[in-house]
Amino acid sequence: MTEIDTAVPDFRDRVVLVTGGTTGMGLATARLLLERNAHVVITGRDEGRLASAAERLSRAADDARLLTVRADSADLTDLEGLAEVIRERHGRLDGVFANAGVGAFQRAEEVSEAAFDHVVDVNFKGVFFTIQQALPLLDAAGGGSIVINASWTLHRGMAVAPVYAASKAAVHNLARTLGADLAGRNIRVNSVSPGYIVTDMFTGFAPEQAAQDAIAATVPLNRLGQSSDVAEAVAFLLSPQSSYITAQDLLVDGGLVTALPGS
Ligand SMILES: NC(=O)c1ccc[n+]([C@@H]2O[C@H](COP(=O)([O-])OP(=O)(O)OC[C@H]3O[C@@H](n4cnc5c(N)ncnc54)[C@H](OP(=O)(O)O)[C@@H]3O)[C@@H](O)[C@H]2O)c1
Repeated sequence: MTEIDTAVPDFRDRVVLVTGGTTGMGLATARLLLERNAHVVITGRDEGRLASAAERLSRAADDARLLTVRADSADLTDLEGLAEVIRERHGRLDGVFANAGVGAFQRAEEVSEAAFDHVVDVNFKGVFFTIQQALPLLDAAGGGSIVINASWTLHRGMAVAPVYAASKAAVHNLARTLGADLAGRNIRVNSVSPGYIVTDMFTGFAPEQAAQDAIAATVPLNRLGQSSDVAEAVAFLLSPQSSYITAQDLLVDGGLVTALPGS
């Protein structure tokens, strides 16, 4: 009989990159991985926000296991610099959470070319080149796991998110294609699709309590998600406990996409 490992995954001696780690799901995932002994690299666009994230993470780990790097995911030069910094500090990567993303909530007729380009540059191009730059570092570790932060909107249309939802469908499709391409290099690629998660992005979309309550009522589990809900799923997909899972999407949405509320 195969032995089943029931221990909480430990990331000791593993190095994980979390893009967009200054707030929300990126920050929560960085915290969880640090608590599980990983070396974590977080990115963001602003040194001040990175410093405040480091301060918030200092309770989870000493500075030695956390590296902050200012890198705009939409800028290939920044992503090349990020890979170089990780190469110098660690020489490898065991996991990547390609999480950095921007929300865009406008109906199709209202979308300008600049707004379209910004969403696609961060959410799609940024994820693609983050992964491309990480590949030699994953190879140096002998393989690893990549998790892309997609969205429930890739499964179910949302009238005010035509470009955003399509950008998330694109990155989930990357998980399928790269899952096939990279399997021979011992690299798994999956996406997570969060539902409504209470972060700065969500409160920007629905600032009023009444709107948040109305949204929660559309979720079968009858609550909004927390960043920690997603962090647990990401840690699982990054860990060897998910070693037979690749090219998949894991919904972390309280049932939003696949079920109607029961009452
Ligand atoms: N919240 C939800 O309900 C929800 C649902 C489904 C999917 N998602 C996805 O979840 C991911 C995380 O979002 P969140 O909800 O946790 O929101 P958040 O708190 O606003 O976090 C977004 C993160 O992305 C970073 N970021 C944004 N643009 C960047 C860029 N060009 N380069 C590097 N970093 C960048 C931000 O860092 P700085 O601002 O410091 O640069 C921040 O750390 C996104 O991909 C989002 O699309 C969110």
